[in-house]
Amino acid sequence: MKHLLGISDLSAEEIRNILDRARYYADALRDGRWDRAKLENKIVLSLFFENSTRTVTSFDMAAKRLGADVVNWNAELSSLKKDESFTDTIDTLSAMEPDAIVIRHHEYGAPGFVASRVRCPVINAGDSWREHPTQALLDALTMEQEKGQLEGLEVAICGDVAHSRVANSNILLLSKMGANVRVVAPEMLMPEKMPVAGVPTFTSLEEGIEGADIVMMLRIQKERMERSLIPDDAAFFRQYGLTAERLKCAKKDARVMHPGPMNRGLEIADDVADDPERSLLIKQVANGIPTRMAVLDILLGG
Ligand code: NCD
Repeated sequence: MKHLLGISDLSAEEIRNILDRARYYADALRDGRWDRAKLENKIVLSLFFENSTRTVTSFDMAAKRLGADVVNWNAELSSLKKDESFTDTIDTLSAMEPDAIVIRHHEYGAPGFVASRVRCPVINAGDSWREHPTQALLDALTMEQEKGQLEGLEVAICGDVAHSRVANSNILLLSKMGANVRVVAPEMLMPEKMPVAGVPTFTSLEEGIEGADIVMMLRIQKERMERSLIPDDAAFFRQYGLTAERLKCAKKDARVMHPGPMNRGLEIADDVADDPERSLLIKQVANGIPTRMAVLDILLGG
């Protein structure tokens, strides 16, 4: 593995390898024992062209927990604002020889383009609607910790699937690892094409989550809609919001996930999001660190 551009490039064996290393770091962080100098003298350059709370911070902390230095480049303060082209910007930053680049970008495939021009590993932190591989990996780690294994797990991915790179990467990963994934969305938020053939689709949330072990809710991404597909938030919540009552349609011990940021009262009710037993939202966030430590270690640690 030279870069991490998407789950689509990975074999089941490579995914297994990353998840095993992520689990190792999750345990090590808990016990306070790991090699804090593993990436000493390495510099990770972090390029975020889109907003982020969880992803940018956990890449930063993951790199620092392994002893690397992180340079957080700021698009707003950069020479892009002086009309420097994206290509010239990348060539300029590459000339400074970072040891790895983490990039989030609104253009489809931007991380792959960067990987073709630089001499270091490139990690995709989310591109357009295409992929968000480290999110799918941290979600898989969370599911394995909770449910033991991915194989045979029933996972329902629900909500704004059409605009979600998180859904794409999760569908790819879960299918490769033998889970049974289905998608629940209203017609207008259903993707035209699935990343994997044969994924069952449902327009009813109640039917779609029946028998699910994991109910993964997605944020309604209004900023990606050309026109408002959700004219009435309250009406959407009545039909597609995950409430405690609706969750009864899933398995009794089903768990709820959401990549964040969430819209409370739109795709998810407060009591479900904050349910200490059934909601895995906080665990997902925490798992961002060991998962990204694993990816950085595999790509940079030698
Ligand atoms: C997601 C993203 O940016 O792709 N958030 C995240 O990284 N945890 C999902 C979203 O924005 O809805």
